[in-house]
Amino acid sequence: MTGPQPLANILEITPYKGGQKLPSGWKLSSNENPLGCSPRAQAAVIEASKSLELYPDGSAAALRDAIAAKYGIDAGRIVCGSGSDEIFQLLARAYLSPGDEILQSQHGFLVYRLVAQQSGAATISAPEKDLTTDVDALLERVTARTKIVFVANPNNPTGTYIPYEEIKRLHAGLPENVLLVLDGAYAEYVRNNDYSAGMDLAGEMANVLVTRTFSKIHGLAALRLGWAYGPESVIDAIHRTRGPFNVNAVAQAAGIAALSDDAFMARSAAHNEAELIRVGAAIEKTGLKVFPSVGNFVLVQFDDRDGRRAADADAFLRAREIVVRDVNVYGLPDCLRVTIGTVEANDDVIAAFEAFAKS
Ligand SMILES: Cc1ncc(COP(=O)(O)O)c(C=O)c1O
Repeated sequence: MTGPQPLANILEITPYKGGQKLPSGWKLSSNENPLGCSPRAQAAVIEASKSLELYPDGSAAALRDAIAAKYGIDAGRIVCGSGSDEIFQLLARAYLSPGDEILQSQHGFLVYRLVAQQSGAATISAPEKDLTTDVDALLERVTARTKIVFVANPNNPTGTYIPYEEIKRLHAGLPENVLLVLDGAYAEYVRNNDYSAGMDLAGEMANVLVTRTFSKIHGLAALRLGWAYGPESVIDAIHRTRGPFNVNAVAQAAGIAALSDDAFMARSAAHNEAELIRVGAAIEKTGLKVFPSVGNFVLVQFDDRDGRRAADADAFLRAREIVVRDVNVYGLPDCLRVTIGTVEANDDVIAAFEAFAKS
C-alpha cells in the first residue's frame, strides 16, 4: 500500500540537525549566549504568561516600533518572523520556483539550501578564499535563473566576514531583479570599523533585505524571534506568505524588553570580545589552526593524521562533557566549531584542547 507521496524535492531534503547536548557539561554547539538573556526579557515573559489565552498581535506592531526606534528605521518596512530561519523560508515561498537558483558562499549557512530545496530551487555555491566570502566568485555565478543571493556576514560556521565596501560591490554587480539577503545574525558582535550590517543599503535599494535575530546577542533562541528590514515590495511579499500569527506573544514581549536593555547587550558583546581572543589564542597555541572569527564562536582546523582528526577531538571533548559542533555537513570534515561559553566553560575547553594536544 502506498500512502500520500510528498513532492520529490521535499524527499531530497536532509533535515537540519541542531547542536547536540549531553545530560550535563557544556553545550557549545549552537552559538547560544552564555550569559543567558536580559532579566528584563525574563520578566516580560512572566508578565506575558498571564495572557496566554489571547492571540498575539499578528502584525507585531509594538515590537516593530521598538526595533524601528532602536535602529532609526521605518517600522513599516520591518517584518518579524519565528526566528530569522522563518524569514528565509518565507522568502523562498515568495520568490523561488522549481528551476530557479539561489546563490551562496561555499560554506554558507545551511538553512539557505534547505529553504531553496523546499521550493524546488537549486543552490549554487561560490568558492571562498581562506574560508571567506569571495564577491567575484559570487558575481561570476549569477545566471538568468538566480533569484536570491544569501550572504551571512559574519558567516556561520566560518566566523569570517567581508567589509561593507565588498558588500556594496556585490550589490552593484547584481541585476536589479536579484534579491540580496544580508544575514546579520552575528552583527552585534563585530567590532571592526570596516563592517556594516547593511541597514542603509536595505533602506535605499529595491533589492536588498537585511535579516536579524534575537537568538544570539539577546539570548532568546528558545523563543524563536527574528526580523527583516528592506524594501516595501519585499516586506509586502513576506507578509503575504507568513502565517497570520507567526510570532507568538511571549516572544514579542521578550523582544521589546530585550531591545531596551543596552547594558545586557554591551555585557554580552564585551564578554564575547575578550573570550573570543582568549579561546582562539589558547587553541592556536596547541598547534591547531583557528580561523579569524568575528562571531561568537571559532572554527578550528585539525590535522589529517590518525588520532589527530576533528572526529578524534570531538570524541575527546565529549568524554570531558564538552559538546561542540562537527561541521561535516558544511563540507568541513577537518574542522570543529566551538561556541564561546562562560569563562568557566572556556577554561574547560582550553584545558581539554591542551590535553588533546598532549594525548
Ligand atoms: C548565519 C545564521 N543565520 C541565521 C541563523 C538563525 O537564527 P534564528 O534563530 O533567528 O532562526 C543562525 C543560527 O545559528 C545563523 O548562524
